[in-house]
Amino acid sequence: MSKPLTIADLKTMARRRVPKMFFDYADSGAWTESTYRANEDDFSRIKLRQRVLVDMTDRSLATTMIGHDVSMPVALAPTGLTGMQHADGEMLAAKAAEEAGVPFTLSTMSICSIEDVRSVTSKPFWFQLYVMKDRGFVERLIGRARAAGCSALVVTADLQILGQRHKDLRNGLSAPPKWTLNSAMQLATKPFWCLDMLRTSRRGFGNIVGHASNVSDLSSLSAWTAEQFDPRLSWDDIRWIKDLWGGKLIIKGILDEDDARAAADTGADAIIVSNHGGRQLDGALSSISMLPKIVAAVGDRLEVHLDGGVRSGQDVLKAVALGARGTFIGRPFLYGLGALGKPGVTAALEIIRKEMDITMALCGKRDIQDIDAGVIAENPFHA
Ligand SMILES: Cc1cc2nc3c(=O)[nH]c(=O)nc-3n(C[C@H](O)[C@H](O)[C@H](O)COP(=O)(O)O)c2cc1C
Repeated sequence: MSKPLTIADLKTMARRRVPKMFFDYADSGAWTESTYRANEDDFSRIKLRQRVLVDMTDRSLATTMIGHDVSMPVALAPTGLTGMQHADGEMLAAKAAEEAGVPFTLSTMSICSIEDVRSVTSKPFWFQLYVMKDRGFVERLIGRARAAGCSALVVTADLQILGQRHKDLRNGLSAPPKWTLNSAMQLATKPFWCLDMLRTSRRGFGNIVGHASNVSDLSSLSAWTAEQFDPRLSWDDIRWIKDLWGGKLIIKGILDEDDARAAADTGADAIIVSNHGGRQLDGALSSISMLPKIVAAVGDRLEVHLDGGVRSGQDVLKAVALGARGTFIGRPFLYGLGALGKPGVTAALEIIRKEMDITMALCGKRDIQDIDAGVIAENPFHA
């Protein structure tokens, strides 16, 4: 394929390069995948207002998220096993984000460790926390994020237990891949991916291996999650984490107005309206459809961010118009990474940036900070 022009182009390229179990791990949702699809589809139900003959020079997409300068209101979402889309994936994506002037969020379940990512970046990145039963491990993880200079902690609230993705079970997903006939066939057809992977030593869960005790089956994400993640996690734990961390705190995975109010009561700096990219509760509403209600409920108390289904700069603009201070992208950057490594992540960000810039201009606006509901012509999702 020639130069990728859309996120869909990057997805096509990633499908060719990445072994099926890892491509499918990104391109999947829970059960019937209805919420995964709704996240994308509902953006297209919002229509923009075309304006003409206004000065469109000197446009700016720069803004802030939780007080941090960003070149556009887009951050890279935390995604597990990113170093399996491409060797050293988290380090490459973090560098691409830094160069693009947008935040990178490292997942607890990353392949490259906090320290690996720190070693290749010069600006602070954000760290996403899954809360494990072993609170000593959680404390050490938070300490490592602080020592690495991470400038925000993103606590994920919507994965106390793991939603089921059929493709992962059928493909025998594990990191590193276990040697079975099924996995051997998946790897045999992706020689470039395999060669890159042979050149790196980072093939396990970098934040966990050597740091957590009593880990019995680390290669199996679902088994480990079931064993280690804390199903009793509560709002009191969020307060404990907030005190322990002492810095900027974002709560990720809010899809309900009452939960948004509870999050605001904790004194967090922001929430991410999210259903985990449709990977947890299949049948839940799309993120963008819930955004106006959640902004109406708590938008005056903390920043409201959004993720789920953002596939273009137009989607970012729509989310901002409906009250999101910023957005996060998961699959779009993973496809870029799988397709081309670091230049692919850069391509994903630049595709989104260009689409947002042109859309903003054609809506008659020059500054992302002036975007409000006035750029929307039709919106089926009201507060
Ligand atoms: C492959 C994959 C792995 C993910 N792993 C994590 C994770 O480790 N922690 C987390 O909080 N969210 C995780 N998520 C959810 C993302 O942070 C984000 O909510 C979601 O991808 C947004 O939807 P989008 O992919 O449509 O942009 C993951 C998503 C994907 C696609």
